Amino acid sequence: MRKIRSAFLTLSFILLCLPLNAQQSANSVDSQINELIDKMSIYEKIGQMTQLNITMINTTGQQRDVVLDPDKAINLIRNHHIGSFLNGEAVPAEVWFTYMDQLTRIAMEESAHGIPIIYGIDHMHGASYLAGSTIFPQNINLGATFNIQHSYQTGWVTAYETADLGHHWNFAPVQDLGVNPLWPRIWETYGEDPYLASKMGRAYVEGYQGNEEIYPYKLAATAKHFFAYSNPASGWDRTPVQIGYQALHEFHRPPFQAVIDAGIKTVMLNSGEINGIPVHASEEFVNGFLRDQMGFDGVIVTDWDDIGKLVDFHKVAENYKEAVYLAVKAGIDINMTPLSLDFNKSLLELVEEGRISEERINESVRRVLKLKFDLGLFDNPFPRNDRLDRIGTEESRLKALAAAEESIVLLKNENQVLPTIDVQNIILFGPSANSKRNLNGGWTLAWQGGEEGQYPDDMHTIYTALHEQYPNASIELIEHVSFDEANRREFISQLDNADLLIYAGGEEPYTEFIGNITDLRLDQNQIDEINYLSQSSTELVLIIVAGRPRIVTDIIQNVDAFLFAGLPGFEGAEAIVNVLSGKTNPSGRLPITYPQHTGHFVTYNHKSSDVYFFNPDEANHIAQGSESTALFQFGDGLSYTTYEYSNLTLSANQINPNDTLTASVEVTNTGDVAGFHSVLWFITNRVGTYTRPVKELKHFEKIHLNPGETKTVTFEINPRATLTYPDQNGNPLLESGEFVVRIDSLSSTFRLNK
Ligand code: BGC
Repeated sequence: MRKIRSAFLTLSFILLCLPLNAQQSANSVDSQINELIDKMSIYEKIGQMTQLNITMINTTGQQRDVVLDPDKAINLIRNHHIGSFLNGEAVPAEVWFTYMDQLTRIAMEESAHGIPIIYGIDHMHGASYLAGSTIFPQNINLGATFNIQHSYQTGWVTAYETADLGHHWNFAPVQDLGVNPLWPRIWETYGEDPYLASKMGRAYVEGYQGNEEIYPYKLAATAKHFFAYSNPASGWDRTPVQIGYQALHEFHRPPFQAVIDAGIKTVMLNSGEINGIPVHASEEFVNGFLRDQMGFDGVIVTDWDDIGKLVDFHKVAENYKEAVYLAVKAGIDINMTPLSLDFNKSLLELVEEGRISEERINESVRRVLKLKFDLGLFDNPFPRNDRLDRIGTEESRLKALAAAEESIVLLKNENQVLPTIDVQNIILFGPSANSKRNLNGGWTLAWQGGEEGQYPDDMHTIYTALHEQYPNASIELIEHVSFDEANRREFISQLDNADLLIYAGGEEPYTEFIGNITDLRLDQNQIDEINYLSQSSTELVLIIVAGRPRIVTDIIQNVDAFLFAGLPGFEGAEAIVNVLSGKTNPSGRLPITYPQHTGHFVTYNHKSSDVYFFNPDEANHIAQGSESTALFQFGDGLSYTTYEYSNLTLSANQINPNDTLTASVEVTNTGDVAGFHSVLWFITNRVGTYTRPVKELKHFEKIHLNPGETKTVTFEINPRATLTYPDQNGNPLLESGEFVVRIDSLSSTFRLNK
């Protein structure tokens, strides 16, 4: 009894002390920050607001070079007080360790007040700038898994493999919405849906910032690129966006809000303009939306030279100094400058002239120092190399493989041509058939994706993975089809003798504006090749390995099976081949709408009048998703088994705002193979003051079902959380009326009373 009592007292004491300790340590950090700020000169403070590229401190000035030139670093840190650097390429861990160790030592010795530097990097799908690391699928594929575990693991493993190397700050996750299929960064997003992006982004942040195995280190993630960056009218990167405020609040804000609520430490701004105002020059978007309305109190960083772009591209400032004035007034904390000291010089002048107050500078410096304290950089600034065996483990590779497998979307499978179990003779075609880089896309080993030879020897291409999967089959690789008329007959009969033809096409890697295109159709040469091959009587499987849904409408009838593989990463080839062979039952579902036409595109959650026909019945028919202008719809994805949905029930058919309604449905695996299956719940708000999307994803979960097994899945509808939408000022509207719950082809309605 005494023991229990004393344990109880100890516990109460700990509980009482906890908030006090947290409070005390916050106070002590605040007072240390204040002390530092009191001691720092203006120029020193401006240094904390500056982030310079690696090319300013490496030996060659080339991006690839991760070898420090100490003199350059000493000059920038001793004389210009630079507080942050960024970038690099995939070099071995020991090279990163040596570089970061030297750089940190210089910072600790040369910085006037012993302020550590913070290093930023783009480890976008795993530690993509580290040789030997684990590379997960890109975000568009993670979206297709509809399984937040994979996003969590991507964040977790990235932290695990990089924290020791001094990579304190990762410019991920991308919280933009992939709503414009031309946009060359759509593969960096989790897809077009704000709820999916919110859940995936949140899981990433929890995995990355919440990884406790990296002790004593802590890391900062970045939500980027705030916001509405992804919906330019032209489809080209960094071009203008025109958008209403209601849509900003309803669609583009939630994915950022979700990660802010999850405690993300930094936000990077959109390089482009919204409604005529570049985001970097907008007090309304930065201070108004992000800080005041959304409650973000962490560090806001510009994107690459975006202050310069206010002069060169947006032309809202006459010169660089005026651009600095606009951006600092708008509310940025750190400028990814990244190639000169003009920012430091200009900002110093602005303060000396009294145009920017020292108090304004202190606000940003306080946030930057707070970030450095929060990450423990003052106590543990140095990298370590005694546990580099954490990098590229088999356990991590299996996590990447599982993510890749669940991300492959089977969209057509005529006469069950797949899976292909007994094949003796396969002919494989197409530009992605034997390519490692195409499976990964940009931000892999290098900005635009590494050269083919840089990829690990043991990484599979589709060709080598097929060999491994079918060791006794003959697998012929024909990367370019010859259209030679003289040999046509002979060639087609060679194809006719094969058991299966596979065409792996799509896109080569690109990142940002380098990937701008004017035509979303699949490259004409690939279309011609596929058409040519389809003359054979042998079944033809098309695999699209691409960052965007390239239009395949002209050829889809000519292929027997179609897989959208997206950018599945290092384990992608194995995942694709596992799906082809049936070792993996596919479970990916499209996180985007797959366009049918070059001239018409709407996302799945479009407005009813987006598909306006004179006859509203016809329009409604299309709008409700029973038919569509898309080739494939958001959520489409086949399996080697069949799932049947039954008994959709709602716990009530009338509710009040404070009630909770439970929807439940039974899902049965009616086929004869086991499978993972993502269950997607949609809601339609029939009538709204602001026109409502035809349907919206509101809940999803991934389940596993053995053949014949039935599971009941549920969805709790809490009106304030689930049915509210914002007005044009971001105020929540909860309107009474009829709502439809939709799952698979079932639906049921209820009424919200007020
Ligand atoms: C991209 C960002 C990236 C930054 C640093 C920019 O060009 O837009 O997404 O984080 O470069 O590499």
